[in-house]
Amino acid sequence: MSFTVVDQAPLRLNRSELAVPGSNPKLFEKAARSAADVVFLDLEDAVAPDDKPQARKNIVEALNDVNWGNKTMSVRINGLDTHYMYRDVIDVVENCPRLDLIMIPKAGTAADIYALDMLVTQIETAKGRDKRIGFEMIIESALGMANVDEIARASKRNESMHFGVADYAASIKARTVNIGGPHPDYGVLTDPDAEGARDYVWGDPWHYALSRMVVAARAAGLRAVDGPFGDFSDAEGYRAAARRAGVLGCEGKWSIHPSQIALGNEVFSPSDEEVAKAQRILDAMEEAQRDGRGAVALDGKLIDIASIKQAEVLVKKAEEIAAA
Ligand code: GLV
Ligand code: MG
Repeated sequence: MSFTVVDQAPLRLNRSELAVPGSNPKLFEKAARSAADVVFLDLEDAVAPDDKPQARKNIVEALNDVNWGNKTMSVRINGLDTHYMYRDVIDVVENCPRLDLIMIPKAGTAADIYALDMLVTQIETAKGRDKRIGFEMIIESALGMANVDEIARASKRNESMHFGVADYAASIKARTVNIGGPHPDYGVLTDPDAEGARDYVWGDPWHYALSRMVVAARAAGLRAVDGPFGDFSDAEGYRAAARRAGVLGCEGKWSIHPSQIALGNEVFSPSDEEVAKAQRILDAMEEAQRDGRGAVALDGKLIDIASIKQAEVLVKKAEEIAAA
């Protein structure tokens, strides 16, 4: 281990994160009764400019009046380049004791996070807020990706980083067909086989960006979360996108439609078999330690310290899910 100890963000389940437009209060009760781990009430891109003041009022009211149970509640504020943002922060942080997180869209530099930390700290102190607000940052621009490490470390409030593939694609001027999905032009042609036949294999155009963000997030002790998958009629497409995000180190994915909540929860929950296997690894290690043995074999495979850590993460996640 490094001598540098990285503080870890507070534990929260973040398998599914449901986006709910603040301008559509009809959706709030349903969101509160959904199985989403986190709900973010949106003031940014899902809300038209003329509707922003009313959406703010709706959100303040809903955070106070709706029973959100044990969900983690977040509000996506407008970007720091708009004139809406300061009022978003003041209204929701001053008036909503239930609020857990603020989602910062289009985070571009560490100074963006610093500025918000200052504003939120002043409001918390002035109002004597009991619950400290945490930050979730969306990495969704070339600038944000170029500064991703500094952004991750910019505030002690930082809890999670999210890959906003839609705005990211626009920012880097990438060609896309479906938000968060693959692209038919992103692939490789295999060499011809003996008969001269060649295969075309699709790749994941978001691999680098997502992985880069995961590294920055994890190095700063933050949760890494994959963003939207646009085609909500394509459950299998969502599952595939979520699974590959899980393999890269994400612990959840956005739901831009309620039908995606169950998919996210399913993909990012360890299966019973995985938990049982992880528990056997931990038991075998404990037994070996009792017997004074360093290395252990289980089912013909060597278990090392890294497999023990992975097993611990898995068992802990299963415990969190059981407690939710
Ligand atoms: C999310 O905000 C995105 O742009 O993908
Ligand atoms: Mg966006």
